[in-house]
Amino acid sequence: MKRIAVFASGFGSNLQALLEYEKNNKLSGKIVLVFSNNIDAYALRRAEKSSIKTICFSPSDFTSRNAFDKAIIEMLENEQIDLVVLAGYMLLAGKALVSKYKNRMINIHPALLPAFKGTHGIRDAYNYGVKVTGVTVHFIDEGLDSGPVIIQEPVTVNQHDTIEMLEEKIHTAEHRLYPLAVKYFCQDRLKIVGRKVIIEGI
Ligand code: GRF
Repeated sequence: MKRIAVFASGFGSNLQALLEYEKNNKLSGKIVLVFSNNIDAYALRRAEKSSIKTICFSPSDFTSRNAFDKAIIEMLENEQIDLVVLAGYMLLAGKALVSKYKNRMINIHPALLPAFKGTHGIRDAYNYGVKVTGVTVHFIDEGLDSGPVIIQEPVTVNQHDTIEMLEEKIHTAEHRLYPLAVKYFCQDRLKIVGRKVIIEGI
């Protein structure tokens, strides 16, 4: 059974979707740790409610960003983590972490990458006036939102949608997609060939 760490800085609705999927025995992996850089993250409360181990520290607790990254890697090694799932984690993963967890760290982005990278994927797509946006789950590489794409799902923007309505549609799609991607990883069904990710058996 793959051991999973979820990194979250905020509300943690994606974490919740993963926890529920796991509870229904569908994840094929075990969430053993929730890490946050933000002590007020509601994601931490969700983890505690599910009796999952939580760890919280932030770059400001260390003398350098390198020292922070080293502590993260040490934590993941102590917990024998196979997969790092970024779910609303607001810090960029440091170089050492990215290389240590190459092809074993994934992220969810609320737009159809490579469009609308960065922190405000939903708002940027909405303000641009696109008719279709969506959700992307991808591996992490050295760049910003640039690693190989695992799955994507389009979400239609209707002309009378408010940003809140779009946000809701995006989050609903996220909560369906992320558990699926994690399951594929845990079942060893993801093969990376260059920039492409092959999902075996679909
Ligand atoms: C999600 O929209 C995700 O795509 C983005 O950050 C948001 C996190 O939401 N990376 P939550 O904390 O999981 O509710």
